[in-house]
Amino acid sequence: MATPIILPVLRGASSARPRAGADLDSQRSFWIEAFRRVRAETEARAAPLSVEDQIVQSMPDASPIKWHRAHVTWFFEQFLLVPNDPAYTIFDQRFPFLFNSYYVAAGPRHARPQRGLITRPNGEDVAAYRAHVDAAVTNLIETMPADKAAAIFEIVEIGLHHEQQHQELMLTDILHAFAQNPTNPVYDAGWRPPHVGAKQEYVSVPSGIRSIGHDDEGFAFDNELPRHDVLLPKMRIARELVSNREWLAFMTDGGYTTPSLWLSDGWTIAQNEGWQAPGYWRERDGAWHVMTLAGEQPVDPDAPVCHVSYFEAEAFARWAGKHLPSEQEWETAARADLLQQTFGTVWQWTRSAYLPYPGYRAAEGALGEYNGKFMVSQMVLRGSSLATPYGHERVSYRNFFYPPARWQFTGVRLAEFN
Ligand SMILES: [Fe+2]
Repeated sequence: MATPIILPVLRGASSARPRAGADLDSQRSFWIEAFRRVRAETEARAAPLSVEDQIVQSMPDASPIKWHRAHVTWFFEQFLLVPNDPAYTIFDQRFPFLFNSYYVAAGPRHARPQRGLITRPNGEDVAAYRAHVDAAVTNLIETMPADKAAAIFEIVEIGLHHEQQHQELMLTDILHAFAQNPTNPVYDAGWRPPHVGAKQEYVSVPSGIRSIGHDDEGFAFDNELPRHDVLLPKMRIARELVSNREWLAFMTDGGYTTPSLWLSDGWTIAQNEGWQAPGYWRERDGAWHVMTLAGEQPVDPDAPVCHVSYFEAEAFARWAGKHLPSEQEWETAARADLLQQTFGTVWQWTRSAYLPYPGYRAAEGALGEYNGKFMVSQMVLRGSSLATPYGHERVSYRNFFYPPARWQFTGVRLAEFN
C-alpha cells in the first residue's frame, strides 16, 4: 500500500475563475492548470488504496473507487469531448454503459448496485482511460477556436466541480467499506476532526426579509439559483456544532429507546437497523469506539458528532428542546459570520426539504439531470466536511441526502426560537 497522504496539503482548489478581462491564452492556461490540479487530487486520494480496495462496493449507495475514477472521466468524455471535439475518439465503446451514473439522456447504463462486480476493465485500464481523456481535454483547451471558448470553459468548470464531489464520495465510500473489515484498515493515520467549542452559545440571526442563493461571479450549481427573498422569523442559532459529549448524554438519557422523540419513519428505521449510536460507533469493554479514516479510535467527546442521519439529528434536537435550522436561517447566519466550523468539519442537516428555489428551471439536455430531478424526498445539508476538497465549499451550497443516510460526514447544529 502506498504511503498515506495528508489530505489538506494535497487538496486542489477549483472554485476560482480567471480574472475579469483576461486574454484567451491566459484563460486557456488557467483552465489547464485547474484541470490538472483537480484530476491530480482524485489520484492522490486513490493512492493509499490497493487494487483490491478500489474494487469493493460495500452497499448499493457506495461506489468502488475505481468506478469513481472512471465515472468522472466519462463525464468529461461524454459532455465535453464528444460534443466539442470532432477529432476525439471514444477510448472504449463499452465504457459509457459502465460509467454513466444516472444520465438517462446520455444512454443506457449499468445497474448501480452491481458496480462492485466489474473487475474488468481493471485498474490499469482505468488509468489509461484517465490519461487518454486528460490529454484530449488539455488539447481541446489549447486549440479550440475563440468563438467556442466560453461554452467549453463552462463545461470544463462543471466537470471539475463534479469531480470534486466524487472526491468526497471516494472517502465516504472507502470508509464504509473499511468499516465492514474486522481488521479496521487505516486510510490516513493523521485523520482527526477538529474539536468543537466547549460552551454552547446561541446568537440571534437577522430576521425579516433576507436574500438567499448564489450572489457573486463565482461558480454555482443550478440548484443555488435564482437568488430570491425569504421571510425569516426571529430565531437563534448555535455557534458550535453538537459534540460527541452531548450525543453521549442523549444516548444515556434513552435517546435511541424513546419513540416519542422520533419521527415515525425514523423510529421504524432505527428499530429495523438496530441503531443505538451514530454510524460506525462500536461498544467495546464498556467504552464507545468509532471507525474513522484513521482506523478504529476511542470516541472523542470533544469532536463533533458525525455519521448521524436526519432522523437522528431531528430526534436529538427534540430531546434538547431545540430545532434544526432551516437552510435559509443557516445561510443567513453564515453570511453574518455568526457560526464556528461553518465549513470543513461536518455537513449540517437542516430541517429544509430539498426543493427548487422559486423560478428554478433545470437546464436543457442531459446536464439538466444534474440536480433538478432529485428535488423530492431529500433533506438539505449546509456547510462542508473534512472530506470536502479545499475550495469546493461556499455559503450558498446545497448538499442533499435521504433522511436515513448516515455514511456521509453529517453532523448537527441546533437552533431555537425566541
Ligand atoms: Fe457523478
